[in-house]
Amino acid sequence: MSLFNVYPLFDINPIHANDVYLYDEHQIKYLDLYGGHAVISIGHSHPTYVKNLQQQLEQLGFYSNSVKNTLQETLAHKLCTMSDCSQYQLFLCNSGAEANENALKLASFHTQKSKVIAFKNGFHGRTSAAVAVTDNLKIKAPINTHHPVEFIDLGDLETVEKIASQGEVCAIIIEIIQGVGGLGEASTTFYQELSQLCQQYDILLIVDEIQSGFGRTGDFFAFQKHQIKPDIITMAKGMGNGFPMGGLLIHPKIKASLGMLGTTFGGNHLACTASLSVLEVLEKDKLLVHTQEIAKYFRKQLAAIIAIKQLKGRGLMLGLEFDFPITALRKELLYKHHIFTGNSKDPNLLRILPPLTLQKQHIDIFIQALQLELSTL
Ligand SMILES: Cc1ncc(COP(=O)(O)O)c(C=O)c1O
Repeated sequence: MSLFNVYPLFDINPIHANDVYLYDEHQIKYLDLYGGHAVISIGHSHPTYVKNLQQQLEQLGFYSNSVKNTLQETLAHKLCTMSDCSQYQLFLCNSGAEANENALKLASFHTQKSKVIAFKNGFHGRTSAAVAVTDNLKIKAPINTHHPVEFIDLGDLETVEKIASQGEVCAIIIEIIQGVGGLGEASTTFYQELSQLCQQYDILLIVDEIQSGFGRTGDFFAFQKHQIKPDIITMAKGMGNGFPMGGLLIHPKIKASLGMLGTTFGGNHLACTASLSVLEVLEKDKLLVHTQEIAKYFRKQLAAIIAIKQLKGRGLMLGLEFDFPITALRKELLYKHHIFTGNSKDPNLLRILPPLTLQKQHIDIFIQALQLELSTL
């Protein structure tokens, strides 16, 4: 028996972790500037998170969505208050792809239409509708190619309107800052006009905050900088700090009906406890303000490195663009300096997605290692 070989693996086996550090079986310590792909929001094994999950597990780990779960109600209330999305309704599921799958289905139920507008370089997951609206032919099987989807350049409002005005579009799905695609972000005018077009043509605006949400950009959600009001906001990753969960915030104009959406595991007691713990720590440790401040320091240090041709992203969702492919640099950072970083669809872009608890001394370690590697090129 062997594993189904789908992941290109680094030969490292982390066995425990604390805050921004991972430790392998040989007790080698790694600085985590990747956050397990933007998942670790409040730091590895945060004591509040561990204590709350332990207590919940001893009390009740799981029961189905056929009974009342007041933790879901507490989470809905706290999440809507902290994210400034009061009146939105919460539906919980198990992953980012599943959140988008449900969002697209909901848009289709609500509008009774089926075409979707998505954007070039967008990534929304690997389930049927989610992968259909993802701009990557390599991860689509023939069974995924039957959804009617139009891919448009980020920022091209004219083409959006041309397609939207034909009356067949149920949803526009967009990452405010593209993650896997390479940190692209359009202007505030674009997002605001996109939102207006949605209203004009009875289309739901789905904002995918799976990577950029839960404080990663220094705002609770990345769309807030552009002052828009999405119809559906999808979340996952940092929401559970590693506990597998996803969710949708749904505008009050969208009405639920019994059986419309559903899941066995979504919103279980452990998942709710994980996310409530994330919110508790974000609030108590003022991690949104910290993210804004530490990001300023990070940007200042990076600005001094002339090999970086462009610095993309916001908060602790950053992309360092070089004029050479970063594969070798990333390997050196990992194997020589013991620093995890990320890559993207853009071969020249190094991605930084650390826990939001990152401190100046961690940035200094990274800058020193980066400068050393760049000096040997
Ligand atoms: C923006 C975005 N949407 C959706 C997904 C899919 O999430 P998951 O892997 O939890 O299904 C990802 C994962 O990287 C993502 O970055």
